[in-house]
Amino acid sequence: MSLGKTAKLNTGASIPTLGFGTWQAEPGQVEAAVYEALKAGYKHIDFAKVYGNQKEIANALKRAFSELGIKREDLFLVSKLWNSQHRPEHVAAALDDCLAELGLDYLDLYLVHFPVAFDERGDVNQNLFPLQDKSDHPDGDVKMLDDISIVDTWKAMTKLPKEKARAVGVSNHTKEHLQALIDATGVTPAANQIERHPRLLQPELIKYCAEKGIHVTEYSAFGNNMIGEPLLVQHDTIKAIAEANKATPAQVILAWAQVGGHSVIPKSVTASRIQENFKEIELSKEDFEKVEEIGKKSPRRFNIPYIANKPRWPVNIFGEPEEKDAPHKVIV
Ligand SMILES: NC(=O)c1ccc[n+]([C@@H]2O[C@H](COP(=O)([O-])OP(=O)(O)OC[C@H]3O[C@@H](n4cnc5c(N)ncnc54)[C@H](OP(=O)(O)O)[C@@H]3O)[C@@H](O)[C@H]2O)c1
Repeated sequence: MSLGKTAKLNTGASIPTLGFGTWQAEPGQVEAAVYEALKAGYKHIDFAKVYGNQKEIANALKRAFSELGIKREDLFLVSKLWNSQHRPEHVAAALDDCLAELGLDYLDLYLVHFPVAFDERGDVNQNLFPLQDKSDHPDGDVKMLDDISIVDTWKAMTKLPKEKARAVGVSNHTKEHLQALIDATGVTPAANQIERHPRLLQPELIKYCAEKGIHVTEYSAFGNNMIGEPLLVQHDTIKAIAEANKATPAQVILAWAQVGGHSVIPKSVTASRIQENFKEIELSKEDFEKVEEIGKKSPRRFNIPYIANKPRWPVNIFGEPEEKDAPHKVIV
């Protein structure tokens, strides 16, 4: 069966560039959404331990295999190691736990979710956001682990059995973080999953990943955020391009996102949007440039855990001005 439009990973595997996301797809909704996506033809689906919905997603996968005749090998399934699973001795067990939650034998791609280690404080499954005993923040602060570096965790990722994690990569890593992993291990991550949308173009990181052969997957392509900003499907320029192309704003953003061979993983729990987002359009060079102008004029990163997450993560990950007072840094 065809995987649709694909890009190549540095392992030689093909990754479908139009995928499907599952963050904030609530229990009670996510099984139907993933089933609908598989029925619509999506092949690349993005999961994570921390989304708390993998067990329910397992039902959708099981039903799709038995009812829709979809085969495991026709899909490209991705999940992520959580921040409180970063100790090297926990990494293999974390993958097994993830596979057990999803009812799968292997993942096509397993990512380090963030370049940040939390103090696990006991059973990870009971405590995905372990708190500091004392914090002056109203939502509390997560307890960080400063004796585990991203290199320690990456080394363990590279040793995972290939039959369980066909490719390994990272997410939310900057150019400096990626370079540190490569320098220390000689193993280049297969992918970096990053926030990217018309207001966050990240040209330097995109160029670096292209030079190193690191596939880029774009998350929050519609500008989803936890700080209450309107989605980019409501942006006037995007709406005007959509109208001129007899397409929808979401289709414009998804076409823009895949230029350069990147993959994109729009999330929806709404059947009509799941179908709409899977209908691909071609974007002219002029329209592509109009979309890029949005980010050139008013760049904005939305997902910054130091300011947006509850509890707060007291760590400077991206080097954004909003993170400058964070007491912890990424340990390389
Ligand atoms: N690695 C990371 O740290 C990270 C971080 C964030 C996200 N991700 C991954 O990337 C995926 C996508 O990112 P995201 O969930 O942040 O946001 P997103 O895909 O940018 O946006 C999702 C939002 O857009 C709405 N939407 C979907 N299709 C639409 C359409 N055609 N028209 C109008 N609105 C539409 C959805 O509403 P409904 O659902 O109500 O339809 C939802 O509110 C996630 O689900 C997750 O898998 C990864």
